[in-house]
Amino acid sequence: MFHKFKNLFSNDLGIDLGTANALVFSKEQGRIVVREPSVVAVEAFSGKVLAVGEEARKMLGRTPGDIKAVRPMKDGVIAHIETTEEMLRYFIKKAQSAKLIHPQVLVAVPSGITEVEKRAVKDSATNAGARLVRLIQQPMASAIGVGLPVGDPAGNMIVDIGGGTCEIAIISLNGIVLSRSLRVGGDEFNGTIQEHMKRAHNLLIGERTSESIKIQIGSAYPMEQEATLEVKGRDLSSGLPKTITIRSEEIREALKAPLDNILEAIRVTLNDCPPELAADLIDRGIMVAGGGALLRGIDRLIAQDTNLPVHVADDPLSAVAEGTGSALQDFKVLKRVSSL
Ligand SMILES: Nc1ncnc2c1ncn2[C@@H]1O[C@H](COP(=O)(O)OP(=O)(O)OP(=O)(O)O)[C@@H](O)[C@H]1O
Ligand SMILES: [Mg+2]
Repeated sequence: MFHKFKNLFSNDLGIDLGTANALVFSKEQGRIVVREPSVVAVEAFSGKVLAVGEEARKMLGRTPGDIKAVRPMKDGVIAHIETTEEMLRYFIKKAQSAKLIHPQVLVAVPSGITEVEKRAVKDSATNAGARLVRLIQQPMASAIGVGLPVGDPAGNMIVDIGGGTCEIAIISLNGIVLSRSLRVGGDEFNGTIQEHMKRAHNLLIGERTSESIKIQIGSAYPMEQEATLEVKGRDLSSGLPKTITIRSEEIREALKAPLDNILEAIRVTLNDCPPELAADLIDRGIMVAGGGALLRGIDRLIAQDTNLPVHVADDPLSAVAEGTGSALQDFKVLKRVSSL
């Protein structure tokens, strides 16, 4: 009864403050209620925030040069504190509808985050209207979100490849036994594709184009049917617009370096893993989540390298937010997996 009453006034929120996408899970509604790009449009000369999220992204490219895009999160941590706060305030408000009490929020943060960075996340969320802020490590949230039995006394391995970070963790009994956080992710994939286009084709392309190449024909492992794609950009020598055709094989080659970094980190994590837990992974395998899990053949690449079964999450982009939501449902679990 009291619980129901309290719920009328407050609404706990789980937040995945990602480098590329921010998601908010509403405990009251039992689902993800906000899913928007982590972008803020700022007036260049005054620094005034003009739009946040999807609206900010839409404004970009259609407005004169006095408006600039800011991605307040970089490499999984807060790069611009004020814009992060504005962004959080907007998302919290959007998820809150008409509530009287400030919400308790659970924010997922990278496992490699420093104390100073933690404080920045907490202060931002508090200033943005949260009553109480708890932090959960992203790989834990991701593992819970994809439904791994993290409370089992057995090894569970998660690899979450986001826009800015790759989080690798082995979890048992609701605790992270080992983890690794690399500042490598989808953004870097885009970057190496841009570099490749410059070097191999003398073609300058933007970040949006490189991301679209990655999504359309990018791969981590040879594909049954290799593909080609027409790409438009600016010729570096003539300075004029130019269209060329690229092949999926060359994009795979361009992605090799960042993928090798991820494989190396997975290997090191497995090497450090206590033997009993390592043995569990032979059957349980490795779960891959985050937007990077959608790269074609990433499961086969990791499986080939580790000799372990590899599964891709059903909805890799929602894993962390879903995990914060599940953690909020059960206070005992919440206390174990998060910190104040
Ligand atoms: N189909 C796809 N193939 C390859 N990459 C994809 C695909 N769809 C999305 N991505 C990439 O996934 C990344 C975003 O993933 P996600 O939303 O999990 O990141 P994030 O949580 O915002 O970042 P982080 O966890 O590093 O802070 C982007 O780099 C995007 O380009
Ligand atoms: Mg993420």
